[in-house]
Formats: sequence, C-alpha cells, structure tokens
Amino acid sequence: MPGIKGPSDYSLEPPRHPRLKINAKEPFNAEPTRSDLITSYVTPVEFFYKRNHGPIPVVDDIERYSVSLCGLINNSKELFMKDIWKLPKYTVTATLQCAGNRRTAMSKSRTVKGVGWDIAAIGNAVWGGAKLADVLELVGIPYLTSISQSGGKHVEFVSIDKCKEENGGPYKASIPLSQATNPEADVLLAYEMNGEPLNRDHGYPLRVVVPGVIGARSVKWLESINIIADECQGFFMQKDYKMFPPTVNWDNINWSTRRSQMDFPVQITIKGYAVSGGGRGIERVDLSVDGGKTWVEANRYQKTGIPYIADDSSSDRWAWVFFEAEANIPQRAEIVAKAVDISANVQPESIDSIWNLRGILNTSWHRVQVRVGQANL
Ligand code: MTE
Repeated sequence: MPGIKGPSDYSLEPPRHPRLKINAKEPFNAEPTRSDLITSYVTPVEFFYKRNHGPIPVVDDIERYSVSLCGLINNSKELFMKDIWKLPKYTVTATLQCAGNRRTAMSKSRTVKGVGWDIAAIGNAVWGGAKLADVLELVGIPYLTSISQSGGKHVEFVSIDKCKEENGGPYKASIPLSQATNPEADVLLAYEMNGEPLNRDHGYPLRVVVPGVIGARSVKWLESINIIADECQGFFMQKDYKMFPPTVNWDNINWSTRRSQMDFPVQITIKGYAVSGGGRGIERVDLSVDGGKTWVEANRYQKTGIPYIADDSSSDRWAWVFFEAEANIPQRAEIVAKAVDISANVQPESIDSIWNLRGILNTSWHRVQVRVGQANL
C-alpha cells in the first residue's frame, strides 16, 4: 500500500518512555513498573504495555491509508480514514490484557515458553473510534448476525506488520461474526487512545479493540477485514493463545484439540486491579493477610471516592476495578488477593492446577510476602 510500510527490520522504531521495563527488545515488548501501572485508573499511553511480534509499521500518508473489507460479502469495499471518521464516534473505556500477563510467576513453578511478563502486561484506556458493527452494516451485514447470507461466521483482522511466527507475514486474528455485529459488544475500530490519535506502538492509524477478550485479538495496524466461514487459521489463533492442562508438554501437544482463547478470566494483584473478561463485573475482592486462612472484603472503585457496584449501568463494564482495604498485619505476612466476578467465577488457588506450557492465563491468587517496613509490592 502506498505511504504505508511494514518494515522488516527495527531501524524505524518509535521513542519510548525510559521507565518501561523491556522484556524483549526486538520485537519490542515492555511493561510499566508496578507503581507506574496503578497510579491512575486510565493508564497513560506512555505507561501502557507494548506487545509486538514484529517491527512497528510506518504510515506516513494517512490520506492513502485504507482498510479493505472483503471475503464472504456481496460488495467488497475500501474504507479510507475519512470514511471511518464520518461514522458515529464512540468512546469505550476498556482494559486490554495480554494472555501472558504474570507469566514469570508461572515459570517459577515450571518453566514455560514466552516473553517474561511480570504483572503489568495490562492497561486501561479510553478508546475512541467507530463501532465494528456500524462498519459491517456499511457492507450489508446487519446488526446481530451470526451467519451472513454468504455463509460468513467469523471476522478476520489482518495487519500490515511482519511477524516471524507467520513466516514474515502479517499478524492476524478473528472473532465470531455474532460478536462483531453486536453493537453492545462495543468492538471498535479505534483511532484514538485517551483522547489522542493512536501512537505507532499502539496501532496508528487504526486498530481493533475487542473489550473483555485477551489482547491478542485486538489487532493493530489494520489492513483488511475479511468475512470468513471458519475461524482465522493464523498462527496466533491456532498455534498460540490456547490453554492446555498441566499434563500437556511440547512433546505431546496437539493444538487442534483446544479452542482459541477469547475472554480473559478473573484476576487481581494486591493493592491494585481486578478484572474479568466478557464484560463481567467484579462482584467482590477478598483480601487475606494470613496466607488465605481468613479474608476481608476490599472496597472497590473505578472513579476515586465513588464506590463501585458490579452491575450498575454507570460503571465501565469493560474496564478494570481498583480495590483497597486496610488491615492490621503482623511483622511478617503473606497478603493474598482473589476476585469473584458476577458470574461467580473465582480465581484458582494455585498455579499448579492451571500451569500450561505457554504460561498464559495465570489467574491464580496473587500472593505478596511482606515484612513490616519493607512492603514488596
Ligand atoms: N496486532 C498486530 N498487528 N501485531 C501484534 O504483534 N499483538 C497482539 C495485539 N495486536 C499484536 C497485535 C497482542 S498479543 C496484544 S496483548 C495486544 O496487541 C497488545 O496491544 P498493545 O501493544 O497496544 O498493548
């Protein structure tokens, strides 16, 4: 595409905040420090984790940039940014989280493969853009369609970046058509993050944001949207981001036996955040200062000073919840936090029961050892 480059080397990377912790340089994968992460409900763009599988694309001619809509539809269409800007604009506050968040902790139990994330491969942003449901309506697919007239059941997003896992091809992923055409699912083609145009690291000029779903499906630097009959066959749908039981290892793995992970599950960190996938609110956060023998309920809020109520319509349903609790702690304590969502999903107690060879979806209780005067958050 003219004016658009998906470079194959790392000579054109954008500048980044020096306080980010770099987990891999090329491709660039970095997360903020724990304290930078939880200082504000809306994560500043410079402290939002950056998860890439190839060099960052360069779009220097926004007027020539377009997204093609094709596949199982009657009329293919080329959409330029000016067409997308004309559609009704929505802002959705949504937490994006990499499925590999907290992988390092899982690796301590048994070694797993993947970028070594601490607890901050997560962030909460106000995304601005057009609803995917409106864009699909433009090509004749009405709201709330699960199967299109031509037999389409999934919507595939293809990027312009080059990834080694795709043998130098673009990153891609899909979501079900029923979710894509449901305006209530709030799937966006986003061009803004926290009120500013997206920056290059986060998908400039246009990315998908699929709220409540693991970050891997929110494809950045969108080049085309394909309506397809079966789920996207790309590496990141079929050969990654699937959850296996602890018995599966690299010798007996059979990728096709598991579904592609979509919703992210319930999880928290101490003094921090709780979030559940699929738009499910957080019903309760329990804290323990004796390693999980006794528990107290924490206060929860999204906007400082305003108590959070899980199914209140004024809450941001796709966003994380901050919690807080005061407790008397002994000289040495193990603080444990676990969340319960409105479907009564509870975080599992131990890593061993959910350990998987890719080190994803570590939702186990978060434990923090503290010595008075030396909190180790
Ligand atoms: N989209 C493209 N084109 N290339 C990528 O490498 N990484 C995915 C997703 N979309 C990726 C992508 C993954 S695994 C995650 S967790 C999120 O983007 C991270 O988005 P962020 O870097 O804006 O935080």
